[in-house]
Amino acid sequence: MNKHAAFKQIYGPWALVTGGSAGIGAAFAWILAERGINLVLIARNPERLEEKAAEIQTQHPNVQIITHALDLSLSDSVASLINLTADLEIGLVVANAAMETSGGFLNSSFSNQQRLIQLNITTPAHLAHHYGRLMRDRKRGGILFVASIAAYGPLPYLANYAASKAYLLSLGEALHYELKPYGVDVLVLSPGLIDTSMAEQTAIDWSLVYAPYRDADSTALAGIRALGRKSSVIPGTTNWLVAFARKYLLTRSLNITLFGHLLRRAITSSRL
Ligand SMILES: NC(=O)c1ccc[n+]([C@@H]2O[C@H](COP(=O)([O-])OP(=O)(O)OC[C@H]3O[C@@H](n4cnc5c(N)ncnc54)[C@H](OP(=O)(O)O)[C@@H]3O)[C@@H](O)[C@H]2O)c1
Repeated sequence: MNKHAAFKQIYGPWALVTGGSAGIGAAFAWILAERGINLVLIARNPERLEEKAAEIQTQHPNVQIITHALDLSLSDSVASLINLTADLEIGLVVANAAMETSGGFLNSSFSNQQRLIQLNITTPAHLAHHYGRLMRDRKRGGILFVASIAAYGPLPYLANYAASKAYLLSLGEALHYELKPYGVDVLVLSPGLIDTSMAEQTAIDWSLVYAPYRDADSTALAGIRALGRKSSVIPGTTNWLVAFARKYLLTRSLNITLFGHLLRRAITSSRL
């Protein structure tokens, strides 16, 4: 059996990709289609979803693609997703969609901060809980959380975002251990800066943070390659070194002071 067929046997026949219409999520969708896995793609904008699905379908006519426009920052959204996929065997969940609230914590409304918590924390946890149970019963499958190197310590001016990614990193690494005996692979992918619309729309001038850009395709591929082999992966040597230094070399207070200083300089002044 070739590598793609073996991958499909463990993580097929369907994968659910949140935020599958753009950026890293779209890169995952392409990679999974290449492996013959049918796709359920979720995002808010229906036109962008349809466009992405049509592009992928043209290259991979044998793959089935279902798109569903849904705002995953709404509390009842996962319940409707569960209904939608009730008759599908979801072998892989890629919990990728997220938002950030860059700038001072108090400068964004609390309802916006709550949306972040719902989208970045509650939704991935709910997806992992629901589909994880079904995978446990089938004794195979995978759950891939897209976190960030922001998970590796508190980040002033990205406070809620970094805290949400730290939650995902902790949850995912723990679930990796818990679900391994049931044949379910859990991985946390922690990218550094990626050239997507999320990085463009932020209030941070990344050139002042000295962060190197990577591309979405190689980032998603690193996640797919690490699935089933590791609990956690950080693509790119510089990103890995930054995370390593933040975790093992710098004290927590030095971490906060250093990154607080860097981000304070890089945030658009109106958002401080
Ligand atoms: N870009 C970076 O530098 C970077 C770095 C580290 C980690 N990450 C992480 O990588 C993941 C993907 O980010 P990205 O850079 O690829 O973002 P992106 O290019 O902005 O794409 C985000 C995707 O999520 C969808 N989405 C956004 N809000 C949603 C919502 N409320 N409900 C449903 N779908 C939603 C978007 O479609 P709609 O707008 O149509 O909903 C789109 O498909 C995120 O978890 C992010 O935290 C990104």
